[in-house]
Amino acid sequence: MTSKEKTLRIAAIKEGTVIDHIPADKIFTIIRVLRLDKASGSVSVATNLPSKLLGKKGVVKIAGRELTSLEAEEIALLAPEATLNIIKDYEVSEKRKVNLPEQISGFVDCMNPNCITNKQPVATRFSVKAGEKVRLKCDYCEREMGQKQIRIL
Ligand code: CTP
Ligand code: ZN
Repeated sequence: MTSKEKTLRIAAIKEGTVIDHIPADKIFTIIRVLRLDKASGSVSVATNLPSKLLGKKGVVKIAGRELTSLEAEEIALLAPEATLNIIKDYEVSEKRKVNLPEQISGFVDCMNPNCITNKQPVATRFSVKAGEKVRLKCDYCEREMGQKQIRIL
């Protein structure tokens, strides 16, 4: 048996997006953040697949849909190693790594309970410090958060 035959496969899709190389522990958060329970097309999920890069990885295949740039940013925060594959007529028409923006607004909570964004109806805003690990610094209270503390609304 070749290594390809030993790999668990989920069906190829005709059109849509395949998010690959997701850390296994982030897969269900990504399903929630992308609201895939409300998807109109089919969604296939595989997790705990062996990965040389990540140990264990997950894959999400979303038929008939591309991601918005905001959704791509959310994935970059949760899964900086993820690859986005755009599928057209069964072929990978585009493959790219997700990119972290320098600033993110609105979809992450500040962990500081005294921050103005938690006291008043003010949208959050953070500066992104990309390094080996992602860090976010609140533009209002300057609290820094590491990857484990990042909570997406
Ligand atoms: N894929 C799919 N449907 C298609 C084409 C590809 O679901 N019609 C999926 C593949 O199963 C894979 C991902 O899209 O999970 C990327 O496809 P491909 O680039 O062919 O795979 P790899 O070379 O393994 O990708 P990488 O080098 O990024 O690991
Ligand atoms: Zn803050």
